[in-house]
Amino acid sequence: MRPLLFPIDDQRVRFYPDTPMATLSTLLPGRRMVLITDQHVYRYHKKVFAPFDTIVLRAGEQFKVQATIDGLIDRLIQLEVDRTTVLVGVGGGVVTDLVGYLAAVYMRGIDVGFVPTTILAMVDASIGGKNGVDVGQYKNLVGSIRQPLFVLHDYTFLSTLPKREWSNGFAEIIKHAAIGDAAMFAELKKNNLDGYRNDLVKLRRLIVRNVRFKNRVVVNDPFEKAGRKYLNFGHTLGHALEMQYELSHGEAISLGMMFAAQLSEKKLHFSETNELRQLLIGYGLPVEAGFSAQKVFRSLSMDKKRVKRSVDFILLFRIGRAVVHPIPLTELASRLKQYV
Ligand SMILES: NC(=O)c1ccc[n+]([C@@H]2O[C@H](COP(=O)([O-])OP(=O)(O)OC[C@H]3O[C@@H](n4cnc5c(N)ncnc54)[C@H](O)[C@@H]3O)[C@@H](O)[C@H]2O)c1
Ligand SMILES: [Zn+2]
Repeated sequence: MRPLLFPIDDQRVRFYPDTPMATLSTLLPGRRMVLITDQHVYRYHKKVFAPFDTIVLRAGEQFKVQATIDGLIDRLIQLEVDRTTVLVGVGGGVVTDLVGYLAAVYMRGIDVGFVPTTILAMVDASIGGKNGVDVGQYKNLVGSIRQPLFVLHDYTFLSTLPKREWSNGFAEIIKHAAIGDAAMFAELKKNNLDGYRNDLVKLRRLIVRNVRFKNRVVVNDPFEKAGRKYLNFGHTLGHALEMQYELSHGEAISLGMMFAAQLSEKKLHFSETNELRQLLIGYGLPVEAGFSAQKVFRSLSMDKKRVKRSVDFILLFRIGRAVVHPIPLTELASRLKQYV
């Protein structure tokens, strides 16, 4: 099978859409692969791991921390992993973020590949090379930017993916549509989650469209100096909520997108908040939640993206057209109070 090639920085990421996991060992002839996954993926798909040395992690965002990396480094030493070995992260975004970071620091950097097993990791987390861990309440505070050698999609993994995780992934898909693809937004409106779950051809087309979308953004701006910032739509408030409340990544950014849409109304006369709301609801995502404006504000005012006395938000002119807009901290405090 011939991969699609995505040139990013000085590397070409090989992307294998719709490719059986059984072909993994043939992708890089002569190279040893060590697989890292989490307990859920391992439990459902044990057989595919049998030919490889496999490390199984506990599942969950709470394990996306430096202590997990330290434990993994010990395991790699035990397994005599050296520079010629390729680490392969098989799992959701937590696994791909951890394994990408591990590969970046172990022996000052060894090769890595990803087999994303959630929609979210397929369309977002495994693309673009960003990786890392959370520190306390700060999401992704420590990490690196480093591209994988390859990304392989095997849709049979999705047969065991819980419905809530499908919704999570669609939060990022809706985000892509909102910031840069109005035609995709229209397609999503015409369809629904079960429609995609039950139609592999339609799903494949949507996933590849999103992979291409994210790649295009990253290729044009690998180090987030310009257009890549738009991918943070919904994430400024989203991250703060995700770390303080029992919300998944997708749920948190759904709420973040609603807040950003309302800010866009005020600042840019954006007039499609209701369309966005209906779409998020249609894909099983939350659009309103009670939270402590004060608690969230404290966390936002410490955000990595803060420049001086304001926080950079991604706002929308219209569906498909985004912009970076600094919001002064004083204004943010009052807008948050109105939102909750
Ligand atoms: N690096 C990036 O650019 C980037 C982009 C977006 C998100 N992320 C990160 O991704 C993470 C979220 O990713 P996620 O939503 O995939 O979360 P996750 O990795 O926690 O996976 C969600 C749940 O689904 C389970 N699971 C995974 N695949 C499964 C399968 N095929 N069948 C059954 N269960 C399965 C996992 O065990 C877990 O319980 C966050 O940490 C976020 O910060 C990173
Ligand atoms: Zn995200």
